[in-house]
Amino acid sequence: MLFNPSEFTEHIKSLNKNQLKAISKLSRALNQFEQKESLIEETLDWVIKIVNAERGLFAKLNYSENKFELVAARNIEEENIGDLSKFSSGILQKTVVDKKALLYHDAQTSPDISKFESIHINKIKSIICVPIFKEKEIWGVILVDSSSNRQDFTQENLLFLEFFGNLVSLTLDKIIDLEKLSTEKLILENKLAENISIPEMIGNSRPMQKLTTMLSKVSKTDATVLILGESGTGKDLAAKAIHNLSSRKDKPFLAQFCGAIPDTLLESELFGYKKGAFTGAAADKKGLLEAAEGGTFFLDEIGDISNALQAKLLRVLENREIIRLGDTNVRKIDVRIITATNQDLQQLVKEGKFREDLFYRLNVFPIKIPTLRDRPGDVTLLANHFIENSEIAEKKLTPSAVRKLEGFTWPGNVRQLFNVIQRALILCEEDKVDADAIIWDEEDDFKIIGGSLKHIEKMVLIDRLEKYAGNKTTIADSLGVSVRWVQLKIKEWNLEK
Ligand SMILES: Nc1ncnc2c1ncn2[C@@H]1O[C@H](COP(=O)(O)OP(=O)(O)OP(=O)(O)O)[C@@H](O)[C@H]1O
Ligand SMILES: [Mg+2]
Repeated sequence: MLFNPSEFTEHIKSLNKNQLKAISKLSRALNQFEQKESLIEETLDWVIKIVNAERGLFAKLNYSENKFELVAARNIEEENIGDLSKFSSGILQKTVVDKKALLYHDAQTSPDISKFESIHINKIKSIICVPIFKEKEIWGVILVDSSSNRQDFTQENLLFLEFFGNLVSLTLDKIIDLEKLSTEKLILENKLAENISIPEMIGNSRPMQKLTTMLSKVSKTDATVLILGESGTGKDLAAKAIHNLSSRKDKPFLAQFCGAIPDTLLESELFGYKKGAFTGAAADKKGLLEAAEGGTFFLDEIGDISNALQAKLLRVLENREIIRLGDTNVRKIDVRIITATNQDLQQLVKEGKFREDLFYRLNVFPIKIPTLRDRPGDVTLLANHFIENSEIAEKKLTPSAVRKLEGFTWPGNVRQLFNVIQRALILCEEDKVDADAIIWDEEDDFKIIGGSLKHIEKMVLIDRLEKYAGNKTTIADSLGVSVRWVQLKIKEWNLEK
């Protein structure tokens, strides 16, 4: 038995009010620590002051190497001491062996410890050493010492330090467990973000995996997001995905397209108005930003808004405040802002068409949506997805249709692919979608947006193979190349039907 209950009750009863108060305050103060570092540094300062020592040390025992590591060391001026060798290592080791607190008033002549060289080198006269236990093992040691004789190093203070050491080790246990848990939580959250799938966003390619991870991570924050990407890449989809993955998912997701809308109309939609603010304002009206309270607001095609509106939007982003048109009341809103554009905002800033301060407010977390030609592996996946979700779901793409789809540069991205598939489903016969049903606008044929020369060559060859039913001589003639070149390329790119 660790203690005798009746003796313990007697001890507690013998404590006076002030002593009990001190214990209560101490345990409450210790309970408030959430970080190992501050717990250790502050408790060390308390100990130094309570026993009136010159300096103190908190060292952690590294079991595997059987040596102490300095956690914190302070002097009476609360200055840090960065070197463990400034303390007596012999006495630290003795505490480990004895597994109990030690107190010496005349270290230099004490037969127990005067043999330690470190006692003489550091001119130590008085010393107290208290072990801190974690699960019955010594976790670390509190050591305080002085180069003069300290009468404050009393048996009572030794008892107090033992008690105090136990309280500190309990707090330490709690903090270490909490830290472990919070690290595990972080790791799990991070893993989860990597494996998350956004069902409505189709794509297995590396760029899409990166995008989903990014969307998932940013959705856990309230950061303003700027979605960049060509037309039809899925910017709207990404904005909705961020909202749906966030803690705001049960609150509204509202969107406003900002391109080609008269300024006053856009302003009244976003900010609302007061009765009489303009002709036709018959009653007070809440704006969309207010209506999205607690949720997310998506401003699409942000590059198109006027200078006046840019200034008003800056205010929303800086202070989360809005003023309805014709009103003087300032209203606070809690809305996460996501914006999107397919324009180069930085270029617009350079040209003086977009406010730089607003740009930086919007660009807190930019996310670029990959183009379809940057992820050719997803084309068939998407095409099949669109077919499966159509009314004529049982149709299958033929290998030549797949080749044609994969060989195209898709200037209109996923939206264009969707349209091409819808058209193909109407044009195709029976249960298969063949290459001749895959058609796009003539002028799109050779639209070159970032495609490599090889890619363009491949695209043109696929087109001619279709057009001339695989006749290599006619194809070579139409392209002004040799038949041999056509044969080589067909083999290299595996285009043989
Ligand atoms: N990864 C995807 N998976 C499935 N469908 C997608 C994907 N990306 C886009 N789409 C579909 O493509 C169409 C265009 O997407 P969206 O409207 O989000 O593009 P956008 O980038 O906002 O285009 P714009 O710049 O023209 O506004 C939509 O029908 C959308 O559902
Ligand atoms: Mg859009």
